Amino acid sequence: MTATQRPRVLQMGKMPLPALDADLAQEFDTTVLSAQADPQQFLAAHGSEFAYLVTSASMGASASVIQALPALRGISSFGVGFDALDQQAILATSARVGYTPGVLDDCVADMAFALLLDSARHLAAADRFVRAGLWPSERFGVYTRASGKRLGILGMGRIGRQVARRASGFDMEVAYHNRRPVSDSPHRYMASLQELAEWCDFLVITAAGGDDTRHLVDAQVLQALGPQGFLINVARGSVVDEAALLDALQHQRIAGAGLDVFEDEPRPLPGLLLQDNVVLAPHIASGTQETRRAMADLVLANLRSLIADGQPLQEVPWSLAAAQARVA
Ligand code: 8YV
Repeated sequence: MTATQRPRVLQMGKMPLPALDADLAQEFDTTVLSAQADPQQFLAAHGSEFAYLVTSASMGASASVIQALPALRGISSFGVGFDALDQQAILATSARVGYTPGVLDDCVADMAFALLLDSARHLAAADRFVRAGLWPSERFGVYTRASGKRLGILGMGRIGRQVARRASGFDMEVAYHNRRPVSDSPHRYMASLQELAEWCDFLVITAAGGDDTRHLVDAQVLQALGPQGFLINVARGSVVDEAALLDALQHQRIAGAGLDVFEDEPRPLPGLLLQDNVVLAPHIASGTQETRRAMADLVLANLRSLIADGQPLQEVPWSLAAAQARVA
């Protein structure tokens, strides 16, 4: 096939797995928007030439990008979160949206536990201590036991369940808060997040981002978590009021935190960088070769399916609902 025969695809920017950039370029006639000298001008001049858009949970798709693509028929997004895709703008078109749920649950749950254990045991700080040559002359601190403690999960979806499974290996008691109880979950449901925060030692956030969950974890919830409590976030920075969290960490109103996500990525609040009682990661929960490859494969499969059949294999729920409503 020549380049002109391959379907044209607009790619928002570099993908979170470099091999996927190559795969996309090999199979499709890709144009990378972020590589254009003036992306806005490019969109204004060429937007109508693209029926397909590839993006990621982090890059998303703003209303202005969507509106610049009048021929848009499908979006394939790398990631399980779709809070950065402008739902209203997309639903004003008939474009359908594919995403990558399911394949990253294990690695995100693993990361939640890595952050939980590090918050409790200060592993990253211990590594810095040994490397700095302090072992012969100083004593490392004595921190907090994780096994056998109470684990609260905010958001009992696919990833929350995997966190709960891992907790059983640590003899932890699990309870959760969700919009509504999950019928097949054996764990205790708490109707209020405040109540869950009061009860647990570790509060792990696995809830989706977006307007519904914005700042659910605020100063009051942190107060309820208390000076012995830890906050772990592998979901979205937007779920936590980051300024309130920094304040709670600065004044030891909670014991510590483990954060993979932030309100304004890639820029955590500068004060967080000065705190010993928080461990920080650059949004890498899904970042293993195995999982990112599986996500990449699903991005490709969704794109092929959008082009061949007009629908992705795994569709964002509001996109699917809109498509069903159109045929009803
Ligand atoms: C992505 C994520 O790796 O899946 C999601 O929603 O946040 C991560 O797994 C990241 O957003 C890359 O776009």
